[in-house]
Amino acid sequence: MSVAKIPFGPTYEEMLHPEQIDRQIRENALRAGKADEMDPLNLFNITWKNDVSKVRKIVLPKELTGVDANIVVMMGTYFPSGSHKVGPAYATLIEGCVDGEIIPGEHTILGPSTGNFGIGVAYICRLMGYKAVVIMPDNMSKERYDRIRKYGGELDLTPGTESDVILTLQRTYELKKDPRNKPLAQFELMPNYRFHRHVTGNSAIEAVQDIGNGRIACFTSAPGSAGTIAAGDQIKSVFPEAKVVALEPYECSTLATGGKGQHRIEGIGDKMCTLIHNVLATDFVTLIEDEACVRGLKLLRDGTKVLVRAGIDPGVADSFRDLFGVSSICNILGAIKMAKYLRLGPNDNVVTIATDGMDRYNSVLDDLARRTLGIEDFVLERWFRDIFINADEKYIYDFRKKEAKGRLFAQKERDWLPFGYSHEYLDTMKNMDFWEREYQKCEQYDKKITQRR
Ligand SMILES: Cc1ncc(COP(=O)(O)O)c(C=O)c1O
Repeated sequence: MSVAKIPFGPTYEEMLHPEQIDRQIRENALRAGKADEMDPLNLFNITWKNDVSKVRKIVLPKELTGVDANIVVMMGTYFPSGSHKVGPAYATLIEGCVDGEIIPGEHTILGPSTGNFGIGVAYICRLMGYKAVVIMPDNMSKERYDRIRKYGGELDLTPGTESDVILTLQRTYELKKDPRNKPLAQFELMPNYRFHRHVTGNSAIEAVQDIGNGRIACFTSAPGSAGTIAAGDQIKSVFPEAKVVALEPYECSTLATGGKGQHRIEGIGDKMCTLIHNVLATDFVTLIEDEACVRGLKLLRDGTKVLVRAGIDPGVADSFRDLFGVSSICNILGAIKMAKYLRLGPNDNVVTIATDGMDRYNSVLDDLARRTLGIEDFVLERWFRDIFINADEKYIYDFRKKEAKGRLFAQKERDWLPFGYSHEYLDTMKNMDFWEREYQKCEQYDKKITQRR
């Protein structure tokens, strides 16, 4: 299967409903997914759905969450390249292709990122025949760099960690002065919003159809680029009562309080209000401590015995070993906190996301082991109670009022005026019409993608 025969991959609608893909292509793509991750047909596996077109999700056992509400986690680790961030990477590249702005052989693709988006960019470029340069901080988990190299991406490293993502943006800003370089600017470009609103949002709505009251009471997502949280816009359009909650590291609470510290939850908490973050739909901002996320991951990875003793089915406890990353734990802890705070009951559903899986965090757990004197089962048991069962309702900030929204708009201006965006443009984002217009463009792009392939 050569790239030239099917130069372009799926439409937004096909990523949401893979069963609508031509049957032969879908079958071949599913086979390629198992046999060869470098086969370009894997573009057709960019979806939340499994082989039988059901959303890949788990409902967390109540013995783990300690709350009555159903906590439904959508699993990003099954996407090609191992995280759902490949979705926005693909959407941004394909929109550029069909708009005639990105031309194979002529343009180099830049992917400013703290890791997973960069992995997605390197992967997509490999499949679609572009050269990729991933611009990211030099202090992220080692597994991320390995993956990017494996997919043939070049690395351009800036100093620092997750909290220094602004340096990657400045570097991108410099590099894009060369017209041969085309950045897939996840923090600024609307395909990220469109992918998550249409594909992730509608998948979330489908995911709860047979759970509790079939509605979504709350959606929690820790923003990095704030693409994923756009699912909340779609969720609210169907369930207006749903509360959309942005989670931030306690150590870097930029949206909540303007805080800008270092933290260890890779992929989120980038010290800014991103351009594509529709803050009109964000109801609460909740803070989660980074150490709780790393310890929580350790528990799910190595605490199977502890979990089974707490009443969790051994098969389920065992499956948890590989399914989550650090930010997944952040999202889950946020979901538990909000279920408590909102007093949700057994019929209510909270949806959240596990962006990636354990495959890129062994080095993070090694670091935890170095920092901690012996992690025996009794320690894991204490962490289990402290972090999950006794999760508190502290550090929840209500952002529903106009004055609070104003603080987020002001943050966005501080972050984006220096990159050349005008007050007028930023002002248009203060109205829901702007976001609806952007969302409507999915249809237009789907038409163009279908025509061109
Ligand atoms: C591990 C991880 N979690 C969460 C996120 C945040 O997702 P988004 O950028 O859609 O806000 C990212 C983004 O790169 C990530 O890599």
